[in-house]
Amino acid sequence: MSCFDNIDKARTPAHVAVIMDGNGRWAAKRGNSRIFGHEQGVEAVRNTIKAAAKAGVKFLTLYAFSTENWNRPRFEVEALMSLLVNVVKSEADELDKNNVRLKIIGDLNSLPKKVKRETESIVEKLSENTGLTVLMALSYSSKWEIINAVKSIATDVKKGKILPDDISQELFDNYLSTANIPDPELMIRTSGERRLSNFLLWQLAYAELYFTPKLWPDFTEEDFYEAICNFQNRERRFGMTSEQLKKTN
Ligand code: IPE
Ligand code: IPE
Ligand code: MG
Repeated sequence: MSCFDNIDKARTPAHVAVIMDGNGRWAAKRGNSRIFGHEQGVEAVRNTIKAAAKAGVKFLTLYAFSTENWNRPRFEVEALMSLLVNVVKSEADELDKNNVRLKIIGDLNSLPKKVKRETESIVEKLSENTGLTVLMALSYSSKWEIINAVKSIATDVKKGKILPDDISQELFDNYLSTANIPDPELMIRTSGERRLSNFLLWQLAYAELYFTPKLWPDFTEEDFYEAICNFQNRERRFGMTSEQLKKTN
């Protein structure tokens, strides 16, 4: 039986974030280049988007390229950039057909002009869709995002638009690239690594973390459902006691 049948749709997390990791190791195991691993990872992206939509997830954030990934060998960075453009372009019609919206989070200005232009045009093409929103984290890092938010807040204080006392958690949320999007309730990382690698540090404050040893190109629809089922079997206490939660339910 598929784990899908056990998912309680009323309690599906609204937002799931994924660190798609392990492409390089997947390829190395097969005696292939890291680039081959990235190419094979595309199918797992398709599977994950499909599974998220079927499970009733509203927002899916995929970590595609981090600020730190710019430090990889130039050859790999260039291959990743052209793969990104090609995939976004070739998947656009299918995403549109499935009513998927796309949003890019990250330092778009650091991307090669072509990558920026092409991705922005697909974002625009899909902007009227009302189904699943895929947030692609591209040239993204959480510390970059937080510093950006702090700079914008400081500027608005200086201009007199807001007062220092207006700064609250809610206001801060609105200065992040995920403004108006609920925080992820579940974060999945493949490849067995157990770290956040500068991903959504603020937004993941109370997320459930799910780690699987599977390498990203091997990640299937069923693996996504398994993560959701695992999430639904956890008790999220938010600082309270188990007894308190039982009384309120
Ligand atoms: C994830 O796979 C993809 C990106 C970071 C772009 P990796 O390329 O990190 O693969 P491993 O972790 O080296 O196996
Ligand atoms: C995190 O994976 C970034 C992406 C998946 C895009 P990395 O493979 O770059 O992270 P580290 O180096 O293991 O922390
Ligand atoms: Mg990695």
